[in-house]
Formats: sequence, structure tokens, C-alpha cells
Amino acid sequence: MAAISSSMISVGSAVSCHVQAGKISKSRPSSLSIDVPTVTKSFSGLKAGSAVRCDSESSFLGKENNAALRDSFITRSAKSVKSYTRQFQPQASTFKVAILGAAGGIGQPLALLVKMSPLISDLHLYDIANVKGVAADLSHCNTPSKVFDFTGVSELPNALQGVDLVVIPAGVPRKPGMTRDDLFNINANIVKTLVEAVADNCPNAFIHIISNPVNSTVPIAAEILKQKGVYDPKKLFGVTTLDVVRANTFVAKKKNLKLIDVDVPVIGGHAGITILPILSKTRPAVTFSDEETVELTKRIQNAGTEVVEAKAGAGSATLSMAYAAARFVESSLRALDGDSDVYECSFVQSQLTDLPFFASRIKLGVKGVEAIISADLQGLTGYEEKALEDLKVELKASIEKGVSFAQKKAEPVTSSSS
Ligand SMILES: NC(=O)c1ccc[n+]([C@@H]2O[C@H](COP(=O)([O-])OP(=O)(O)OC[C@H]3O[C@@H](n4cnc5c(N)ncnc54)[C@H](O)[C@@H]3O)[C@@H](O)[C@H]2O)c1
Repeated sequence: MAAISSSMISVGSAVSCHVQAGKISKSRPSSLSIDVPTVTKSFSGLKAGSAVRCDSESSFLGKENNAALRDSFITRSAKSVKSYTRQFQPQASTFKVAILGAAGGIGQPLALLVKMSPLISDLHLYDIANVKGVAADLSHCNTPSKVFDFTGVSELPNALQGVDLVVIPAGVPRKPGMTRDDLFNINANIVKTLVEAVADNCPNAFIHIISNPVNSTVPIAAEILKQKGVYDPKKLFGVTTLDVVRANTFVAKKKNLKLIDVDVPVIGGHAGITILPILSKTRPAVTFSDEETVELTKRIQNAGTEVVEAKAGAGSATLSMAYAAARFVESSLRALDGDSDVYECSFVQSQLTDLPFFASRIKLGVKGVEAIISADLQGLTGYEEKALEDLKVELKASIEKGVSFAQKKAEPVTSSSS
């Protein structure tokens, strides 16, 4: 019964494929087979249904372009054996996921969305307060994963035992007038403490950092993991999916495109001008006037502030962030589960530029980052070239701020300072 439920809560498939009741195959009780007579392309992002088969060109998350994207960087000869008909069949419910900061504005809707994944066996919800009720509430949803609650630092090690993927949305959100860097001092300490616990209890887990400023908190996490001797750069991710989600939404609206078809790579970092949507690489191919490019780029860069101001003191983006983070979790779990066709943008250790961390499209695999995709940085427009050079200055400073915070914390206390 649980397996049937899991496929029925297949929001991704249901929305993306415009499933009508009559089109759901009844021949395979635990699978949702959608009969759309189009050439099958790959499927990425949040999709529930452990045995979902979706013969559609697109998913509701808009990452339907994997096949086309893959085509853009595989060799010509390899292209002749196109694998559009390949079907990925995820295994059922095997992964343990922990959300740290699960009672918060992002944590709660994220936990709900993640609870819908059929790939998860155990969902660990950790927070310093108020997490018991969230877990009790969520545990009534008849989806496969079991929900466990953990409150306070004494329960943190247990929250992380045996976990495959840790998501960290713990921290303070931005208030009007604050920049992401204003959050630095509070959130840097929170991320440091939590990542230390991850290093001690589940050093092989994928780590998704949501807490801002991501441009600094990811380098902090890397330093902490290095200090603990367990740093694997392939498994540490700054979550920038929301920038892609926003870019896709805004571009689709502006250009009157079918939303689920649009895919805009977003590179750089995750704050202000460091967020650089590469509009010239939008799929499907579409042209923008100079004015449209400037307007869209600025809107995508300032979309977080749009929400902060609209919420007028009640926090920053939570629902769209949860949606974006859930997509990134699902993509990571699919990669861990053996899907060899998963691409997302993320802020990771990188050699694409002269900066040690950089957001770009990456290919996800069982061991984490399998490849960093350089194609989006080639053949940039003059506007994008300049924006890339400009963002590097700010991004470099934010990365260095994170590194020096973590290194300073690691310095032994000297007698003169005691
Ligand atoms: N990466 C992104 O795209 C993005 C987008 C929006 C917000 N954010 C960031 O996500 C973070 C959370 O935002 P929110 O709106 O959910 O905030 P929130 O205040 O609603 O929730 C934060 C939660 O973290 C918990 N928390 C605080 N310290 C903790 C600790 N040491 N251990 C565990 N939990 C702890 C709090 O109890 C709270 O439940 C903020 O830093 C915000 O800036 C990131």
C-alpha cells in the first residue's frame, strides 16, 4: 500500500505530464506509467514515484533538457548513439536524509516535500526547538519514509547517524535592509557547529548548504571538513537551485514560453551581482534585446530582496526555497541511486575560473560531483563576460571571508590572548 501511495503522490509527474486519471496505467500497481506519445527525454529534479516512467519531454521542474544539454557537450560521434529512449528506474526507499533547521520557514515545507520522495527510508528532522510537532504532523502522511525528530545539540549526533544526505537550512533569514553578508556572523557559527557534527557522525554524506551567505558558508564548511580530515569536495554543495528556478520562471513569463520547457544556467555565486544568469544559453534558444537582458538579469539577482521586502520583516523566501531545495535533494538522491543523467547548478569547489568555489552546472553521480560543465562559460556575450569579471571581485572577497572565519576559529588560543 505504501508503494502505491508513493507513486500516487507523484507531484512532479502529475504536473509535468498533465496526467489524467484515465492515463494512469493500472497494470503496474506501484508504478505510474504515463502514456504521452512523444520521444522520451530524460527527467530531472523532484519527481516522486519509485518506478515512475514518464514518456514526456519535460518535468514540472523544468530540468527536462538533460538530453539536449548532454548533446551540447558530448562528442559528435557519441551523438549518433543518442540515448533518448533510456529509462531510469529508481530503486525504492533506501536513503536516509537529515534536515538541520527543520522547524524553520524553509525547513518545514522542505521536510514536507522531501517526505514525498519514494527514495527516502528515514527522514531525520533536527532543530534547536519546535521540531517535535513538525515531525508528528508530517509522520501522518502516508508516504514511505519514517520521520524521526531530534531536538537540541545533545541529539544532534543521533540525528546524523547513518545519514546519506544532510540539508542545512538552519540560521537566521534576511530582514529588510539586511544583505546576505549581514547574516554572516550568526549563520557562520551555526554552519560551523553543524558541519563539525556532520564530519563526526556522517562524514561520507552529501552536504547541501542553504544557510546564507552561501558564498561564505560553503567555504566555511569546506575548511571545517578539512580540519576534521574528511573533506570530499565532490560532496559539498551550496544550494543555488532557487536562482535557476527564478530565472526559468521569469524568462518563461517574459518570452511567453511554456514554463516547463525553459532552462537557464545560473553561474557565479548566490548573492546580488554574483548571481549570473547566462541568458544567452537559455533553452529553448531565445533572443533577448539588450534592455531585456539587463532587466531580467537584475530581477533574477534581486529576486530574494523582492521577497524580503514583500514579507516586510517576516523573513525571506521560504516556499520557493523549499521547492528548489527539494528538487536538489531529489536530484542528488537519484544520482546516488545510480541515475547517470542528472545535472543541476550548484556552488561547489571548482577550477572553472580562478576562484576556488564557483556555481555552474554540474553532473551528479554516486560519488557526488562527477563533472563540472564548462560549456555555459564558453561563447558568452559581451554583457555576460563583463558581468562575470565584475562578480569575481565580490565572490572572491566572500569566499575569503568564509575561509578566514573558519581558519581563525581553528587557531589555538595563545597565552597572550587568554
Ligand atoms: N540558499 C538560498 O537560496 C536561500 C534562500 C532563502 C533563505 N536562505 C537562508 O536559509 C536560512 C533559513 O531561513 P528560514 O527562512 O528558514 O529561517 P527561519 O528563522 O524561519 O528558520 C531557521 C531555523 O533554523 C533553526 N536554527 C537556528 N540555529 C540552529 C542551530 N544551531 N541548529 C539547528 N537549527 C537551528 C531555527 O530554530 C529555525 O527553526 C537563512 O540563513 C536564510 O538566509 C537561503
